[in-house]
Amino acid sequence: MSKERGQFSSRFGFITAATGSAVGLGNIWGFPTQTASHGGGAFVVAYLILAFLLAYPALMAELIIGRHTRHNMVAALPQLSSQPLPRLLGKVTGLYGVLTASLILSFYAIVAGWLMAQVPAAVADISGQSPAKNWFAQSSLARDGLFCALFSALTAAIVARGVKDGIERWSTRLMPALILLMLGLVATVLTLPGALEGLRLYLIPDFSLITDPALLTSAMGQAFFSLSLGVGTMLIYGSYVSKSDNLPLTGAYVALIDTGIAFLAGLLIIPAMFVAQHRGISIYNTDNTLIAGPDLILQTLPELFNSLGVAGGIIGLVFFLLLSIAALTSSISMLEVPVTFTLEQFKLSRRRATYWIATTIFILSLLILFNFDALFTTVVSVSTQYSQPLLGVLLCLFAGWALHRDKLLREISAGFPAAEQSFFWKIWPGYIRFICPLLIITMFVQNISS
Ligand code: PHE
Repeated sequence: MSKERGQFSSRFGFITAATGSAVGLGNIWGFPTQTASHGGGAFVVAYLILAFLLAYPALMAELIIGRHTRHNMVAALPQLSSQPLPRLLGKVTGLYGVLTASLILSFYAIVAGWLMAQVPAAVADISGQSPAKNWFAQSSLARDGLFCALFSALTAAIVARGVKDGIERWSTRLMPALILLMLGLVATVLTLPGALEGLRLYLIPDFSLITDPALLTSAMGQAFFSLSLGVGTMLIYGSYVSKSDNLPLTGAYVALIDTGIAFLAGLLIIPAMFVAQHRGISIYNTDNTLIAGPDLILQTLPELFNSLGVAGGIIGLVFFLLLSIAALTSSISMLEVPVTFTLEQFKLSRRRATYWIATTIFILSLLILFNFDALFTTVVSVSTQYSQPLLGVLLCLFAGWALHRDKLLREISAGFPAAEQSFFWKIWPGYIRFICPLLIITMFVQNISS
């Protein structure tokens, strides 16, 4: 391994950084709002099943390729084969991943900016500064551009510091804070009148909904987005893991923590919606479906916080702080993908590579902001709904078919000497060769045709 390549200092460091990447707006915004729009408990059950049936095996494919090759995705995939065609395919797949990670960051920074602006809005509200509160709370090109810039600059500042001093240090600081804030919020919301009704919708599944193809594809997309799959993030984080780590176990921790936090976020937001309803705030659209998406996070919930007086102001402040932290530990992992690629490909310094890439992606964000109606939803669906599952399939195929079985076993056995006799080894290699890609493709095709 080259001297300039970073490495996580410990297994704990890797787990916090990888869960930092995984836990983001996908968990705290995406999962609860998707649950709300897909009938509650049924979505939760489908999500839990798909996260472990599809997303965990695909996560392992990325981590194993990353640790085996110790490279970014563009350099890693061609290394797995000596034949010209798979090598070329590997390079193209890698570039597609880098592009997708950059696209995701370009819209993610906009959404994170909206959420970050709610933090000073809450402070202004608590201190009675009404005009300032309105400026921060309401969307405008100036506010959105400013906070997107701020968020992008924060992300770049951390990535420029490198793996140990930037990514690992900030993830280990921010992730425990996030979990504590979340637990505090859940405990507070569950004591408020109306919460029980939300809890019922969330925890008691209506099993008749579970075979709905739209629900299943959304749950799959959500699981891939939430575990940061397909775009090479986990591959790169895997490339910074020490050979003495037990990868299947470490990956399982990451998947468990990510799913656990999504579940907690649902436990917060769905009951909070019904607390809002109890206080006279409307939580249904005109077609009788539950409000979801930006309206839920940026209108319904703030209305609820407002109706709770000063305590509500503080809850709102903590909530948006939580979302901003979660977004930041994810955005650094997205930026790391194009940065590591540029740095390794063009032999630039980390600082310089970070500066150029972050500026380019910020310009992309501005382009989206200025042409919001035309671009925003397209960029989101192209990058997350289509590209991520497709790249997930390709990565499973590379790990299953291009990486020789002996090398695969050797890679897994490093740090897990009993690997050959394990349940994981008996199932996983065949699983990612056939079943995982087939299942993903079936759902994907179903999604496109519907
Ligand atoms: N997993 C992150 C979230 O849930 C998003 C993400 C996607 C991060 C792709 C990195 C790469 O918000």
